[in-house]
Amino acid sequence: MRIAVIFDLDGTLTRSEEGIWNCARHTCRVMGLPEPDADTLRQMIGPPLMWSFVTLMGMTEEKAKEALVVYRERFNRVGYLENRVYPGIRRLLRTLKKQGAWCAIATGKPQRPSERIAAHFGLDAFLDRIVGTTDDLSADKEQLIRAALPEDAASYDALWMVGDRCYDIEGGLRAGVRTLGALWGYGSREELQKAGAEVLAGTPQEAIDLLCPGVQPPCGQFVSMEGLDGSGKGTQLERLAEALDRFGFEVVRSREPGGGPISERIRELILSRENTGMTAECEALLYAASRAQHVRDTIRPVIESGKLLLCDRFVDSSIAYQGGGRGLGVQEVMDINRPAVDGLMPLVTVYLDIGHLEALGRRYQASEPDRLEMEPEAFHARVEAAYKELIARDPERFAVVDARGVREAIAAEVAEKVLKRLMEAERIS
Ligand code: TYD
Repeated sequence: MRIAVIFDLDGTLTRSEEGIWNCARHTCRVMGLPEPDADTLRQMIGPPLMWSFVTLMGMTEEKAKEALVVYRERFNRVGYLENRVYPGIRRLLRTLKKQGAWCAIATGKPQRPSERIAAHFGLDAFLDRIVGTTDDLSADKEQLIRAALPEDAASYDALWMVGDRCYDIEGGLRAGVRTLGALWGYGSREELQKAGAEVLAGTPQEAIDLLCPGVQPPCGQFVSMEGLDGSGKGTQLERLAEALDRFGFEVVRSREPGGGPISERIRELILSRENTGMTAECEALLYAASRAQHVRDTIRPVIESGKLLLCDRFVDSSIAYQGGGRGLGVQEVMDINRPAVDGLMPLVTVYLDIGHLEALGRRYQASEPDRLEMEPEAFHARVEAAYKELIARDPERFAVVDARGVREAIAAEVAEKVLKRLMEAERIS
């Protein structure tokens, strides 16, 4: 079954209101006009900007043209980044690509910004063509769809238009293709039905079921974050999850030790301050036991469902803390963990780089230390040294980020490095 699927952009692949609204507000401010109200802003999503400026905001043609220049300047500078890929869209596109489908965009937005949006969010990896408006191609959806179809369209088993507004469905029908109404966007069920949509999907997963029934999505991704206690891991995990979410990666968060009911019980046992008599061997085996359970009941199923598992620590922590800190040896701890990890390693591991003394200082200010954090300074120095050894052994996997600066700057660097690797991997697969 060979299919071609043409997607609308705004409201179908990406959720663009943040950028549109910020640019509209900015335009009014610059032009000395009152800020548009919520209702006006809502109506601006979808129709051409000139129409919005004239009809919704009451501008003259001349003023509207000036407004367009102001709007575009901000949009091209920052507005296009104030956008989000809908959850599940990456999975939909990856599944279609796995099937060998032709995928393209047909949007009423101008060509250049549409290409920039697709490139910024790494969606271009899945797209055979991006068609936006140009001097030669107006915002007429039928024409845009026709231009987005493959040259040998007649040889395909099915041609589809997927969009969230009546214009997409009507344009699709006029272009002679099948139509799927995307209910996650801006149009209502009534609007899409009235326009004549052949089928409706409530979620991108439902669209997968309609477009390529029975096809399993390709595997998702595995990302972990490591660092000494006090490296700011909690905050940075939060920020990374937000950034990945904006790019449409469906993030499921977990942690080690823990991550599931059985593993969490083991966590309590390991970290309890009462268990001062626990031997280093027992501790290492308990971490590995917790991991064996976690890999099988959480990590692997999430990845197999096509989502992204973001883990607070993984096997590197055992190698650093038990192998280095406790002195059990890097190789020995790797061996203990072989059956636990079961061949599964993160695609990217963020290492928040901070010296152990500075990290400990920060850690003690924050809250009561657990059993491991109560260890003397030399222990933490060995943990740090073991991490450095691991990074030197596997520089491809580690994304090392200096954790001493301003939180926002660290978060931006972490997100940039992780997204780069994830998108590279998508391009290869
Ligand atoms: P973490 O959850 O990061 O600590 P917190 O919730 O207090 O911020 O990790 C708990 C402790 O467990 C931490 O000191 C590191 C240690 N640890 C190991 O020693 N080996 C391991 O394999 C793992 C996963 C953690």
